[in-house]
Order: sequence, then structure tokens, then C-alpha cells
Amino acid sequence: MYNSTQTTALQNSTKTWLANVKAKNISDFISKDIEGLRNILRFHEYRYYVQNNPLISDFEYDTLYKALEKFEQDNPGTITKDSPTQRVGKGLIKDFPKTAHLVPMLSLENSYNADDLIDFDRKAKELSGLAQIEYCVEPKFDGASISLVYENNMLLRGVTRGDGEVGDEITLNIMQIKSVPLSAKFSEYGIGQVEIRGEVLMNKNNFKAYNDALIEEGIPPLANPRNAAAGSLRIKDTAEVSRRNLEAFLYHVSFISNSNQQAKDTKQPTTHAGMLEMLWNLGFRSPKNEMKIFNGIEDVIKHVHDFEKERDALGYEIDGMVIKVNDLHLQDELGMTSHHPRWAIAFKFKARQGTSKLIAVDFQVGRTGAVTPVAKIEPVQVGGVTVSSISIHNEDYIKEKNLMLGDTILIERSGDVIPQIVKSFPELRNGKEKKIQFPTHCPVCGHALFKPEEDAVWRCINLNCAAHIVEGIIHFVSKDAMDIKSFGEANVRKFYELGFIKNIPDIYNLPFEKIAQLDGFGEKSIGKLQQAIEDSKKQPLNRLIYALGIRYVGETTAKTLARAVDHLLQLADYSEEQLKQLEDIGVKVAKTVYEFFHNEDNIRLLSQLEQLGLQFNNSNKNLVTGGNLTGQTFLFTGTLVQLKRNDAEALVEKNGGKLLSAVSSNLNYLVAGEKAGSKLEKAKKIPSVKIISEEDFLKMLPA
Ligand code: IVH
Repeated sequence: MYNSTQTTALQNSTKTWLANVKAKNISDFISKDIEGLRNILRFHEYRYYVQNNPLISDFEYDTLYKALEKFEQDNPGTITKDSPTQRVGKGLIKDFPKTAHLVPMLSLENSYNADDLIDFDRKAKELSGLAQIEYCVEPKFDGASISLVYENNMLLRGVTRGDGEVGDEITLNIMQIKSVPLSAKFSEYGIGQVEIRGEVLMNKNNFKAYNDALIEEGIPPLANPRNAAAGSLRIKDTAEVSRRNLEAFLYHVSFISNSNQQAKDTKQPTTHAGMLEMLWNLGFRSPKNEMKIFNGIEDVIKHVHDFEKERDALGYEIDGMVIKVNDLHLQDELGMTSHHPRWAIAFKFKARQGTSKLIAVDFQVGRTGAVTPVAKIEPVQVGGVTVSSISIHNEDYIKEKNLMLGDTILIERSGDVIPQIVKSFPELRNGKEKKIQFPTHCPVCGHALFKPEEDAVWRCINLNCAAHIVEGIIHFVSKDAMDIKSFGEANVRKFYELGFIKNIPDIYNLPFEKIAQLDGFGEKSIGKLQQAIEDSKKQPLNRLIYALGIRYVGETTAKTLARAVDHLLQLADYSEEQLKQLEDIGVKVAKTVYEFFHNEDNIRLLSQLEQLGLQFNNSNKNLVTGGNLTGQTFLFTGTLVQLKRNDAEALVEKNGGKLLSAVSSNLNYLVAGEKAGSKLEKAKKIPSVKIISEEDFLKMLPA
């Protein structure tokens, strides 16, 4: 899209504009060259959303964006339909009108093995009379398919697949996807009107963050990023759609009406790969860099199998590969059956879905007293793991998914997400299925269950219920909380039953002489446990806050709370209003945090923990900040020598960077410490990931 000369020129004028926006007469600058400023913003959106390689920080982009937005507000006559500001601020959508596609959206024939592909190739060769066919192979993106129409270079509409003939018009929501250009110079290719097809995705990191936020809110998570993408496109609040950070790959041109014969003859591509190149050059995120061309089916077969192994390293979900005849004339010649094109086929990867039977439902009591139904299912292999039990969240979820004991159910395990029930099949019932009975009393202590009106969850509110206490302690010692290694769930349960621990402070007063008499506890393992408990006292404040298990306070919220104070007990001075001022803290969280710090029992417990020597001061507050890691993503692996892992991670966040939990193409930097293992190997295979040492990382920080 932009060659190096253009890139340099745009980056230079970015600097000039950044200097301009500080000037008092900024509106004079803008009125002289408003398109210039818009082009700068389009360029940086492209660098960020299409190329995944930003040249300026989010803050700098926002500064320029706000200058344009303010100018347009003051001078509404200057607004154009494709101004970068026009993606947002459209408010609520009333409905999604039905709209016919210019060309029906067909589906692809599926293949599952080499024989299927050899068969596909044989038929194509027979029909065309050719001895060998050139194929273009690209990922099969697992999202929601869309169709876009551009007319006279402007985005006219975006439509869902619907029944293939007619879909729902969702243009305003499509405009929230920053990698979809609002205008593109199709005229340079002699194109007047064009219909292009693609897939809207929610990438794995955004999906995880989205699901984590749902879980923190006590709402059941979504089964997979595909449902998240499809659901997001049907939201009627455009601001919410924008927050979902959707992405789109555009991979097929289904219709062209020509405007200029000469430009058509000289510039319109004659191959599928050429079309992907054209889309890329026009500013679309096409799979230009993800596709490969092969002569003959044998190499295609090898490639699709190789690519399946890389599947988990991608930042987004794919469910297979699509093999397309590269020559567009040959595509026309091969034509369609009533269902599928004869020039393309999908190669499906190993399924991450499986069917099973719902045998029974157990009810577990968690650390907040929430009673969670857990479905026991006939064991089923899904994506390489055996699933035999699966959370079904709450009573509403059971109703929503229409679940009955004995039902056939569809399970999905997508990426590193815990398995979920996608749906049940009521049409397969034989009349022997039974209703799932929710208990009225706590299955652990027998106390009557309670459900506040605004809540979807039944709770045991008996604070002395063993389940509350034990689950709370298990959470406190767990890896993401205080990370007391070798403590673990089994030991918590054992020590509780033996009366060694009754509450969290007891962890720091364990009777080791009694533990030494238990089976399986030698001198060495006790030494290890003692050391781990001692080490946990130094855990940073955010971990301690998370470990306390305050309702709705997940790891992210705990970090926000820790950042706000120098000492944990200062949180008791915050009103609900003040808590709500903190980043991403809403009414619900503010309420539970306030209640937690205004409960005498909790304050007594905290004082005990402070006396036991736990870290109540915010040690990270003194770490250097002010650096510019904005927009950059980091992941640490292996052993760091100079920094503790927690401190290194805190430094990334304090300097505006983001942490990722896995290696993917969304990762900018993998900081590899000593003895780095599989993450390093994975990162080496993704060219865009920069692998740096701890030293290099430290150099990126301000002195
Ligand atoms: S080509 C006429 N390419 O898979 C054929 N489809 O059943 C146009 N899909 O409905 C489709 N990635 O939603 C094509 N790289 C890709 C794709 C892809 C995902 C979806 C698409 C289609 C379905 C096939």
C-alpha cells in the first residue's frame, strides 16, 4: 500500500502535524490541509491494524485524531463520509435491514485427508484438460463471514452471510473494524463497483480478555471466538462493537463492474493471488502474506499438513485451509455446482468439537459461595484432550442452552479456552431425558441457598461453610495469586480436615512438627513448603489483592487497585465514587471492593496478614516509568537474572506496553531469559516476533 518513499514522507509529516497540534492556530493548519491530516491518520491505522506494526504511540495517534475531530465538530461542513472520525459516534442502530448479495455466498466443499484433495485435483484436471494445476492455498479463517460493497471508491455497505442469498446489512458495525478502509481507490484498477468477501474475527488475546471480563462479572464466557465475532456484529450499540476490537481478513472478490476499460485491461489481476495483492495494495488486510502458491496437489497436501502444526501459534483461530485454483479464467471455466465452486475446496483441520452425552450434574461450592453446576459427560476427545466434566455456570445458562440429563451435546475446546458446551440437540431426545434439578440447600453445609434478585447465581451465604473457607485458601495459594508452590489444592484440603488451617493467616502458622508426621512429608518437602510460604510474603501488592478473592476482582482489577495506593489499607479510605474513577472499575466492582474494606472481619484478617510480614506496601510504585512501550506487546520466558518476573511485567505495563500470555503473531517482543524452552522455539518460527534478551529489554526502558 505504501512504498518506502511514501512511508518516510508520511512519517515526516506526522512529526510536523504532532508539532502543529500544539500550536494555538491549529485550526488554520487543518483548514489548509484537512485531507493531509486524514491521510496521516489512515496511514497510521493501516500500520497498526493491517500491518500490525505501528510507527507512533497510541497517545500520538489519539492527539492527531482528537485535533481532527474537534475541527470537524467546529466546521461540520468539512466532514466527509470516509473521514477516520466517521467510524464512531453513530450511536444506536435500530435494525439490520435485509439486503441481497450481488452474487450468492456459496459455501465450500470440505475435505479431510490427502485422498479427498487428490480427488478434487483429479476432477479439476479432467474438466480443464490440464496436466497440472496451480493452486493458491490460504488459511480458512474461523469467524463470521461478511460481504462488502464499494461503489465509486467508497464503502457502500457491509452485509452478513444470512442464507447466502440475502443477509443483514451491518454497515455501521463493519465501520468499527479499523482494518476495513472506508474508502479505497478501486478506480485505479478500472473498477466502479465491487463486492468482496471476508471473515470477521476476534483474535485470541482479545477473546481471552473479553471472556476474562465476563467471568470477572460473573457472566458465563463464550464458547469460541467465532461466536464472539458473530455476536459482536449483531450488537446495536456501535461504541460497544468498537470496544470489541474486531479484525477482518478479506479474501475473495465476488463481483466487479468496470468503470474504465483501459485501467481494467492493464491493471486488473488475472489470478487469485493477484486479487489478494490488489486488495492489500488498496489497504485491505488480505491474506497476501499468509497465502502460498503451489504447482500440483502433492505440494499442497504437504503444506496443509505442515500449516496445521502452526495453528496454535497464530494470533487468531483458523479451522483449516482453503485451496483455490489460482487462474481466474480457469476458475470461470470450472464453474459451480449448486452448492460449491468447483475451483476451491476447504481442507478441515482436526476438529476441536465433539459430541457427547450429559450424564449427571454435580453442584460445587466456590470461594464466594457460588453454587456452580458441573456437567459430568461421557468422556470425549476434543482437540487432543479428554473432556469428562464441564462447567455449566448457572441456572439461566442451563435454560438458555436447553440442557436436560441424557441430552446429546456439542462440546468445543477452542485454543487454550476451557471446554464449553456449544449447544444441545433437543431433536435427538427419546423422552427419557430428565430435568436438571437445582438444589435448594448447600451441598456442602446444608444451609439454605440464596439468590439476590440482580444475580444469576445461587449462593451459600454461610461464611463458616467449609467450601467457602477451603476454596478461598486454595485460591490464595494458587499460581496466579500468591503462588505458594507445593501447597496445592490437595494439601489445603488435607490440612483443613486435620484442623491445621481454618483461615488464610493460618497458612503462615502451619504446625510443621505435626505435618512431619504425615505420610508423604519428608524433611526435604517440608523445607520446600516452608521456603515457598516464606517467599510468598514478598509477593507484590497486586497479587495479594487478587489472592484475597474479593468478588469481581480479577488479576487486571487487582493491578488497577494496587497502582492506586502506596499501602493496601489505603483502599479502605476510598468511597465507592472514588473507586469508580479508577480505570475499568464499574459500579459492581466498586461496591464489592468498598464492602470488603468496610467489613470488620476482613480488616482484622488483613491486620493479621500485615503482622505476619506480607507485603502491604506498593513496591512497584518506585519502579522507573515514563518510557514508551506504548502499543508494543511483550511476553517473558525462561529465568530472568536481574529482574523478578513480576517486576519485569509491571515495568511493561507501567511504561504503556501490553503483556500477552502466549506466543502468537500479535506478539512484538519475546524476552528470553535463561533456559527458555518451547515459547522461544515457537517464536523463532514467527518472523514478526522480535526475540530479545533481558539486557535488551532493560535498554528499552528509560534510564
Ligand atoms: S473462499 C466462493 N476463503 O469458509 C467461495 N472462504 O464454507 C468463497 N472462509 O463461507 C469463499 N476462510 O466464510 C474462502 N480463505 C478463505 C476462507 C473462507 C474462511 C469461510 C467462508 C465460507 C466458508 C466455506
